[in-house]
Amino acid sequence: MSVDASIALLSWYAVDKRQLPWRAEPGETPDPYRIWLSEIMLQQTTVAAVRPYFDKFTSRWPSVEALAAAEDSEIMAAWAGLGYYARARNLVACARRVAGEHGGRFPDNEAELRKLPGIGRYTAAAIAAIAFGRRAVVVDANVERVVSRLFAVDAPLPGARERLYALTETITPETQSGDFAQAMMDLGSAICTPRAPDCGRCPLAPLCAARAAGTQAIYPVKAAK
Ligand code: ADE
Repeated sequence: MSVDASIALLSWYAVDKRQLPWRAEPGETPDPYRIWLSEIMLQQTTVAAVRPYFDKFTSRWPSVEALAAAEDSEIMAAWAGLGYYARARNLVACARRVAGEHGGRFPDNEAELRKLPGIGRYTAAAIAAIAFGRRAVVVDANVERVVSRLFAVDAPLPGARERLYALTETITPETQSGDFAQAMMDLGSAICTPRAPDCGRCPLAPLCAARAAGTQAIYPVKAAK
């Protein structure tokens, strides 16, 4: 299963991935600043809502040093409309730490990334994998849904979180884990959607336990409130 799932998914991603402004084209070197900025903006916000903000920020502040040198009030004003303003405050604090203490270079590993403001488990893993090619296990709500269906995980969230993390680990490839993570997120947003997943187009359908049982709709199971 493990290798089959990642190969099927990466083949699909090579053809069907979304063109997003923070994604490097094949052959280009990913820019950690753009990846960090996109991941902070994408916390709790959709890709469609983030796009214009991402473009505005990167044209005004093309590097982490430029962002670190901006006034707080300018950054907060540019963020207005994206919501969850603690993210913007952490963004400023993080940019200044990277510029001031790391010579303008983001740390290239999860443990160091997690010490920075606004960077938790998910974001550290995403940046390590996507920007630095590290093998990292990247789990957001999309990935939880895909994995809970693939393995028909009956334990409810949030208790099942570590189990889902461990299962994601088993299918994360040794190389290209950044592409793999982004492929899982694209799959979750385009095909393995919360309601009415489009299993006929899913590269993982032949491997999917929920699909085999016809029980896609019940996953991810959530604890009764
Ligand atoms: N959601 C959060 N990060 C993402 C990414 N890199 N690609 C697609 N969706 C995402």
